[in-house]
Amino acid sequence: MKVLVTGAAGQLGHDVVRECTTAGDEVVACDRANLDVADRQQTLQVVGAVGPDVVVHCATFTNVDDCETDPEKAYRVNAFGTRNVAEGCALTKARMIYVSTDYVFDGRATIPYTEWHPTGPISHYGHSKLGGEREAIDLLGPDATIVRTSWLCGAHGSNFVTTMLRLARHGDGLITVVDDQQGCPTFTRDVAATIRRLAVGHLPGVFHVTNAEPTTWHGFASAIFAGSGHDPDRVKAIASSELLPVRPAPRPSWSVLDNAALRGHGLPPLPPWRASLALLLKELN
Ligand SMILES: NC(=O)c1ccc[n+]([C@@H]2O[C@H](COP(=O)([O-])OP(=O)(O)OC[C@H]3O[C@@H](n4cnc5c(N)ncnc54)[C@H](OP(=O)(O)O)[C@@H]3O)[C@@H](O)[C@H]2O)c1
Repeated sequence: MKVLVTGAAGQLGHDVVRECTTAGDEVVACDRANLDVADRQQTLQVVGAVGPDVVVHCATFTNVDDCETDPEKAYRVNAFGTRNVAEGCALTKARMIYVSTDYVFDGRATIPYTEWHPTGPISHYGHSKLGGEREAIDLLGPDATIVRTSWLCGAHGSNFVTTMLRLARHGDGLITVVDDQQGCPTFTRDVAATIRRLAVGHLPGVFHVTNAEPTTWHGFASAIFAGSGHDPDRVKAIASSELLPVRPAPRPSWSVLDNAALRGHGLPPLPPWRASLALLLKELN
């Protein structure tokens, strides 16, 4: 396959490039400097010049709070930028895999969200990512695949694991972490492998792709401390309402995604998050 990866300098983009390169694909890795997806002309020009079989679209304005305070930019990059990438794919007859998020849901469910559960984002980030999903499906139909993932962590970039490791190593005091948001920590290496399977299989539609077994941010933080040889009792649970300073964007309190479409296609599930966390901690050490 000839694969073009947008947002290739990000944590997931990096692992998608590695996964596809290792598998023997011809990979064109584009970071923001050589492909700004918000720039329609540049996007059409680059996708047209490369002529890929598939575009894995990872480029996103990911800072949820910055999206809330600058919604214009959120929609420009996440929704309109995805329209541009989809238009480039339509012109070159490429397929597209668009990476989306658990934040398209409102977080008020009590059972895992399937791919067919009604969406209802509560933040501009979530709205703008849902906009991107619609652009991809409207413009490309069966040539579009949507991969919704959650709580992403990888070896390249800053994320919850790297933040907790920094706090664990810095002093020996207590740190506070919220205990009333449930989700599935998910690892970029595992998502990248599934994305490639979906690309090889030409599988259209929406897929939830997360590591198995839900926890809270507090549970995740405690496991990171324990797994890296620090005292997990240093991680104190608090409610989201106690978090200071108050963050601009609301977070869904329930982010657990049922990977029903992967199961339906007989594709392998991602490992339990604790197994993938152990591998990441080893890699980061
Ligand atoms: N991180 C999570 O917890 C999480 C959870 C659920 C879903 N996701 C989804 O997973 C995907 C990958 O996320 P990630 O964690 O790998 O994010 P990331 O590390 O922040 O990577 C995103 C990349 O996109 C680039 N980018 C931003 N604006 C761009 C533009 N206009 N044109 C081209 N590139 C641009 C960024 O470059 P700069 O750094 O130069 O801006 C960055 O390299 C995203 O679709 C995200 O919505 C992430």
